[in-house]
Amino acid sequence: MRKKRTGEIFEDVLVTDIAAEGKAIAKIDNIVFFIKGAVPGDVVDIKTVKRKKNFREAVVENFKKFSSERETPMCEHFGVCGGCVWQMLPYRLQLKYKQQQVEDALTHIAKVEIPELQTIIPSDNQYFYRNKLEFTFASQRWLSAEEMNVPDSEKQLQGLGFHIPGRFDKVLDIKKCCLQAEPSNAIRLEVKRFCLEQGFEFFDLKEQTGFLRNILIRSSVNQELMVIVVFAYEDKQKRELLLNHLMETFPQITSLMYFINSKRNSDCSDLEAKFYHGKDHIIEEMGGLKFKVQAKSFYQTNSLQAFKLYSVAKNFASLTGQETVYDLYTGTGTIANFVADKAAKVIGVEYIEEAIEDAKINSGLNNIQNTKFFAGDMKDVLTAEFIEKNGKPDVIILDPPRAGVHPDVIKTILNAAPERIVYVSCNPATQARDVQLLDEKYAVKKIQPVDMFPQTHHVENVILLGKK
Ligand SMILES: C[S@@+](CC[C@H](N)C(=O)[O-])C[C@H]1O[C@@H](n2cnc3c(N)ncnc32)[C@H](O)[C@@H]1O
Repeated sequence: MRKKRTGEIFEDVLVTDIAAEGKAIAKIDNIVFFIKGAVPGDVVDIKTVKRKKNFREAVVENFKKFSSERETPMCEHFGVCGGCVWQMLPYRLQLKYKQQQVEDALTHIAKVEIPELQTIIPSDNQYFYRNKLEFTFASQRWLSAEEMNVPDSEKQLQGLGFHIPGRFDKVLDIKKCCLQAEPSNAIRLEVKRFCLEQGFEFFDLKEQTGFLRNILIRSSVNQELMVIVVFAYEDKQKRELLLNHLMETFPQITSLMYFINSKRNSDCSDLEAKFYHGKDHIIEEMGGLKFKVQAKSFYQTNSLQAFKLYSVAKNFASLTGQETVYDLYTGTGTIANFVADKAAKVIGVEYIEEAIEDAKINSGLNNIQNTKFFAGDMKDVLTAEFIEKNGKPDVIILDPPRAGVHPDVIKTILNAAPERIVYVSCNPATQARDVQLLDEKYAVKKIQPVDMFPQTHHVENVILLGKK
């Protein structure tokens, strides 16, 4: 092998497997190569783009043979858009590799004894499963190689769609997205058409100029529909023209909202959501419970699978009605409220204050009286004194962000010594790391992966830990 750092070419490489985070792998001279865009069974020429001691990252220069397992992707934007990157894999293989990611993480990172994994729970809908999508307006959309050669006067430069992976300033204009059911595509396309007709300025992401920034569409299982338009500045006349047009064209919109975001970043979480028409929220329903979802509320994006995920967590918790349950990283209290009917009391902790307000509203909406919610950083809130005051937990449910649980929080949990821990995770690697930290007192009893995001490599996993 030549000692070049990157740019090295290898020919006729057989891709053999898929590793963590959905990366396809091949081995050459016992060195692992992670290859973007390939699947097991492909034979490819590759070029290295990153060289580390134990592995290389490479891109495909040329496909010599496609795996016989490959499927034709459903979406016309496949390969350019950053979403749904596993569409070329049949769903049964997506599930297989997701299950394997969980098993590999527990075997290689946690290195603890584990029972056999339960078979991953598939999603009933493999497309059109999301209840929320956000699209970005751009004055200079992403152009394909062929489009680059067309004179500017003959091509339309404005776009409304998703960011190109890794490019804050480039947006892929989306013709049809297969992630959210109609009228999601119809609304996006009509908003674009109308705004172009009116001559409204699409946002210039580099120069930070222009009127239209984003559009968010949220739908609920019982067909409620929220549309939120984000404008860069207030222009009442233009704003009302667009919002009235939306209202008239799509009478199925039950909640029409907007933000004025004049900041340099597109994050609206610190801005006031302004009400325009209908109600200021939509109602989601799950397992007989109602959840109020406002413009900024967090809610699991695949509603039907969320029900299955929470059912697994509830089942693993084996509640009898006598237990004190802590739901840590509770978000808007969805799991806390979901398990409350089988617990004596549920304590939810989460650091976003508005989410905690929603959690309380959701308990009220469902007449649940045995929940209590606290806002703050977990490592500051969950202390020995807090546990003393709120009661020793019999069961702790954890659903942390991708980074996993802070080591101080793990220590507090070990000291609190609940009978059972139910660990819900969207990142098998950090979950496995935390399982190892809990290993001094807890053994893995059950493992249930759940597929929340078909066509992506993301996997959700629920682990039941019991006292040793
Ligand atoms: C994966 S979400 C789980 C939400 C909820 N269980 C659900 O299913 O809707 C993780 C939650 O942890 C919260 N979070 C992240 N870091 C935190 C921290 N250090 N302290 C408290 N909460 C935190 C996030 O705001 C988010 O709501």
